Amino acid sequence: MGLLSRKVTCNSHGQDSSYFLGWQEYEKNPYDEVKNPKGIIQMGLAENQLCFDLLESWLAKNPDAVSFKREEQSIFKELALFQDYHGLPAFKKALVDFMAEIRGNKVSFDTDHLVLTAGATSANETLMFCLAEKGDAILLPTPYYPGFDRDLKWRTGAEIVPIQCSSSNGFQITESALEAAYQEAQRKNLRVKGVLVTNPSNPLGTTMSRNELDLLVNFVTDKEIHLISDEIYSGTVFSSPAFVSIMEVLKDRKLENTQVWERVHVVYSLSKDLGLPGFRVGAIYSNDPIVVASATKMSSFGLVSSQTQYLLSAMLSDKKFTKEYISKNHKRLQKRQNKLVSGLEKAGISCLESNAGLFCWVDMRHLLSSNTFEAEMELWKRIVYDVKLNISPGSSCHCTEPGWFRVCFANMSEDTLKLAMQRLKSFVSSITIDNQTHQDLKNMRKKNRTKWVFRLSFQSFHDREQGER
Ligand SMILES: Cc1ncc(COP(=O)(O)O)c(C=O)c1O
Repeated sequence: MGLLSRKVTCNSHGQDSSYFLGWQEYEKNPYDEVKNPKGIIQMGLAENQLCFDLLESWLAKNPDAVSFKREEQSIFKELALFQDYHGLPAFKKALVDFMAEIRGNKVSFDTDHLVLTAGATSANETLMFCLAEKGDAILLPTPYYPGFDRDLKWRTGAEIVPIQCSSSNGFQITESALEAAYQEAQRKNLRVKGVLVTNPSNPLGTTMSRNELDLLVNFVTDKEIHLISDEIYSGTVFSSPAFVSIMEVLKDRKLENTQVWERVHVVYSLSKDLGLPGFRVGAIYSNDPIVVASATKMSSFGLVSSQTQYLLSAMLSDKKFTKEYISKNHKRLQKRQNKLVSGLEKAGISCLESNAGLFCWVDMRHLLSSNTFEAEMELWKRIVYDVKLNISPGSSCHCTEPGWFRVCFANMSEDTLKLAMQRLKSFVSSITIDNQTHQDLKNMRKKNRTKWVFRLSFQSFHDREQGER
């Protein structure tokens, strides 16, 4: 231990958060329709599995792309040998065009501003290495993606200062919350280097309003700091209001080539929109040439392999395919989100109205035994161990109000989602019945003046659970 670095022995990675613990529990007992029908259903993983048939059918029709061939001639040697591994020009072009297409071609992107990285994880960290270090802070609206503690802080030494958002306005960013976070960082003797937002938001599943985006641009202009917009979910916006990229706001406000223009950076990845987290394809798009040059050098530590780039450049250059994919992906996500929302409604649970993402931000405050984070953990454990659903508690996303949970809907089949909702419904009614029993007992006690010892039991839930399948 004494010979290891402080980095490996410190606890700032965030691996012990309930977000990751839930995954570990799932791994021990994963649900399988045939092999393990009583296992845990994974609803804590923001994966998009709804369009694999489209990807696979494209692969079947384009064998050259998968078998290292161009016009039926092998290019294996070309791909395997050393080359400008910071990015194949054809892939960079295909990627920026895809990014523009997702934004309805309202903005365009230049390959000279693009840096390829091994996913958005690497993009966010690389960007942080370019902008901040120990003693610096980045402001982040809550609730936020739990992985940011690892990506932004762990190896860079920088700090996150939360911008406290609340359910009272649907967790939107306000001027006073921004200012309070800025003051808080200063109180902690931290130098604020920027604001990072995810748009659409993980975990809220909502797009940012024009008003919020304008507010952010005004704020970073005024404070002379950076703005990072993680737009990894930009292709998942399935209903109105439409997605507005930060680049579109800068363009509309004619801020191109101003000082703030150089301080705005976009993070992107194909992990969510194309459902390819295993391929590790991400990117930084920056208007600052120094950031682009430094991030390019740093990206040597996490590059995208040539064969992945070759395959995806062929796929993303196929405009007929991308058009169909984007449109079908939206429709399927919308349909699936509806199924989750209506399933939750049947269990008497509501969620924040959403129009994007692979999850809903679910309100279970009424199921807490008290308005505390201890009660949230207690409820979460029951949902994982008794109901056998792995969902993510709001506290792992740094939400300031107990009782919110992120529930994913695009990483499973419709039947599995249906089963998950049945399990949740019977759990909620068991709590309701128990609460009712509790109330009845109290009334009887009052009436008869008899001494009762009340023990909260979930037996009724378990009994129903057995009969469920
Ligand atoms: C907001 C956000 N940023 C970054 C990432 C990391 O994505 P990648 O798989 O591309 O590294 C995620 C993954 O869930 C995310 O939700």
